[in-house]
Amino acid sequence: MRRYSIQTKIVLPFLLLFACVTIFVPLLTVELFAWKYSEQFTRETQGWLNTIVETGFIREDSDKVKKAYSVEIMIFGSDYTLNHSTLIGLSDAEQDWENLAKKMRLSEVKKHFQKADETPMTHDVTLAGKPYKVFYLSLPPERFYCLLRPMEKIAEAKRTLTWYMLGIAVLVMALIAFISYRIGKNLTNPIKVLVDSTARVATGDLDEQCEIKTHDEIGELAAAFNQMTRDLKEFRDQLIQAERLATAGKMAASFAHEIRNPLSSMRMLAQMLMQKPEMLGEKHQRSIRYILEEIERIDTIVKGLMEFARPSSLDLKQQPIAPVLQAVLALMEANLAHHKIQLVLNLSRETPEIQFDSDKLKQVFMNVVLNAMEAMPQGGVLQVSTFTENNSVCIKVEDTGVGIPGADVEHLFEPFFTRKTRGTGLGLANVKRILEEHGGDVEIESALGEGTEVLLWLPVAASA
Ligand SMILES: Nc1ncnc2c1ncn2[C@@H]1O[C@H](COP(=O)(O)OP(=O)(O)OP(=O)(O)O)[C@@H](O)[C@H]1O
Ligand SMILES: [Mg+2]
Repeated sequence: MRRYSIQTKIVLPFLLLFACVTIFVPLLTVELFAWKYSEQFTRETQGWLNTIVETGFIREDSDKVKKAYSVEIMIFGSDYTLNHSTLIGLSDAEQDWENLAKKMRLSEVKKHFQKADETPMTHDVTLAGKPYKVFYLSLPPERFYCLLRPMEKIAEAKRTLTWYMLGIAVLVMALIAFISYRIGKNLTNPIKVLVDSTARVATGDLDEQCEIKTHDEIGELAAAFNQMTRDLKEFRDQLIQAERLATAGKMAASFAHEIRNPLSSMRMLAQMLMQKPEMLGEKHQRSIRYILEEIERIDTIVKGLMEFARPSSLDLKQQPIAPVLQAVLALMEANLAHHKIQLVLNLSRETPEIQFDSDKLKQVFMNVVLNAMEAMPQGGVLQVSTFTENNSVCIKVEDTGVGIPGADVEHLFEPFFTRKTRGTGLGLANVKRILEEHGGDVEIESALGEGTEVLLWLPVAASA
């Protein structure tokens, strides 16, 4: 089962990364600035303390110091009692001297001075509800001078800055979430289309084509998928066609077998009757002639069926094709003239000799020429030409006949497909089969009312 979609997998890491960057980095920066600022503050206040000591203000009016530097002064005795303070508003608890001394960490300060440590001593303390940075000085005898620098504004500024930073972080994260969501969607939408198409193809709908117009890897994948579906469809159609041909072949073989024997008997009996004209009247003789004609027609159909069903073995010979075509056309010359069909022959001298079975090729060519003739009942032009292309020889047969309706085109090579009252519909099926046995193929292009062009392809190097 799928736990996370690709979109989530894209959006989530982006969000986590930017959450880290947009929240922790600004907070760290604020802390760094506060630390640096506090150092600067300490140095500055230490300077003030030095001035206070040097100018003697330390022993005089603390209020003047308070005014001059905007600080508070507290002086504690050696027993930690508060001797003097400019700070007003201490809470009840803070007014208790022991408590206050603890808050001001005076015992620690005392130890520091007893060690005669030169380093300045500072502590952060909250008094009367406000934050102060306290700077200590030892006042003889054993008194403590405390300068309290108010830190409220700085704490306030730090708080405001932190809130601003968090606000900006939230905005940036929302923006990043939106952008990564869009990127994820742009990437996953074509994949979804592809998945849907795959599902439809899986149900057997091989006409499905995936519509992805992007020119990236997904576009290439879609193109490959479409090509694969087309190939699959072609392969399936070929398989169906082959199956139909095989079934038709079997049927044809059994029909032919069943029909031919009684047909021979019928023909023989009819011919015997015709040999005794004195026994028959004129009317009966005419009827028997009709019977013989129809028997001939059935025989032609049966022969076609047998030809179609017969497992063929090719008698391949390396030879030129022109003599074969000319032989067939010579046979049909009278017929063509009778139908007022003009023959235009355009056989290329450059056509190479190829390997083929001449009887089979005659049969193929005859079928195609007969079709062309039948398509021009009022006469027309029949053009036969040859040329070589892509290592294949092509025999092109063009007529100016009735043409083929668009709906018929895909059925032309199906056995028994015919639009003629006296046709078997096996002509083109045989043409295709024989050409394929030679490693070639047949193509038909037609314009209704204008004519038809049949291209018979045979490979130069036969692969039968
Ligand atoms: N040159 C052509 N012009 C117009 N239609 C054609 C042409 N060739 C083939 N056809 C169409 O294709 C159909 C199938 O042709 P095919 O040769 O397989 O069978 P047929 O000619 O009908 O029967 P048979 O060949 O057994 O006499 C024809 O019935 C006709 O409708
Ligand atoms: Mg035909």
